[in-house]
Amino acid sequence: MTEDNKIPVVFDTDPGIDDAMALIFLAACKRLSLQAVTTVFGNASLAQCTNNALYLCERFNLNVPVHAGADQTITGATENDYPDFVHGADGLANLNVSPKIRQQADTSAQQSLIVSAEEFPGELVIIAVGRMTNIANAIQASPTFASNVKEVVIMGGAVNVRGNVTEWAEANIIGDPEAAGVLFDSGISVTQLGLDVTMKTIMRQDYIESLVKRCGDAGKLLGEITPYYLNFYRSRTGENGFACHDSSAVAFVENPDIYETLTGTLRVVLTGEQRGRTEFDANEQGKHTLATAVDDATFLATYAQYLNDAYG
Ligand code: BDR
Ligand code: CA
Repeated sequence: MTEDNKIPVVFDTDPGIDDAMALIFLAACKRLSLQAVTTVFGNASLAQCTNNALYLCERFNLNVPVHAGADQTITGATENDYPDFVHGADGLANLNVSPKIRQQADTSAQQSLIVSAEEFPGELVIIAVGRMTNIANAIQASPTFASNVKEVVIMGGAVNVRGNVTEWAEANIIGDPEAAGVLFDSGISVTQLGLDVTMKTIMRQDYIESLVKRCGDAGKLLGEITPYYLNFYRSRTGENGFACHDSSAVAFVENPDIYETLTGTLRVVLTGEQRGRTEFDANEQGKHTLATAVDDATFLATYAQYLNDAYG
């Protein structure tokens, strides 16, 4: 625990509209103490995602370092095709923001993860809402990292539902399946908040509009970035709401009671048309936890209350 008796957390992210929503929620969480933000390529390039993270930390006075991480997968693959139709060409709804003063830390995301785990052995929780490349790099670089980390809580994967990039695979897993495999095989306790629960956690337009009115600058940010995201979901599903992916990983760490879970073993398929698929075997000895259901009403009430308390 930190000095104020909170859970020490590192947020590994590729902002990203829903990453930004998760970061302002995390900063408002009562039980969590954010130690660092680490960035990874994904929703946009590494430079763009790092720029966005710095901007968000500056705007919301988050006094934590931002460490830039991987710009390629652990097997060396780079990306030419970012999901601008979901998040905008800049990753944040085409606002083209940049920080006025804040600069990235001198050390890498990988190094930051290793150092934070050394600082809080057996206590550090990593909330990973992008591809798992930085974490895999830390596991492979440090013989003590895996045993120092208490838990990695990921937004990623799809076990009993369809993927959102292929029929089988979710974006954060298909972005670097080998990295997910390294994490799953590392011995670290991993909890997966996948599409199984995040697609059941929907923020509708009227919900967002009420937050815009009463949550101060956080509400203002939601008003700036969520219309783009909502348009994408509306075009996909016909519904006037969007799934709450990355904030689900934060919500689990703050209050696991709103999720139903199973204990067991996660695996990732690395070959063939199912590449990027996550599979789960339920067993009592497993090191992994799969979220299978969510109390979405409590999730939505908590998100709104926390933003109102912290920023309203
Ligand atoms: C995940 O992919 C990204 O687009 C989102 O930020 C989220 O982390 C959802 O599949
Ligand atoms: Ca993300």
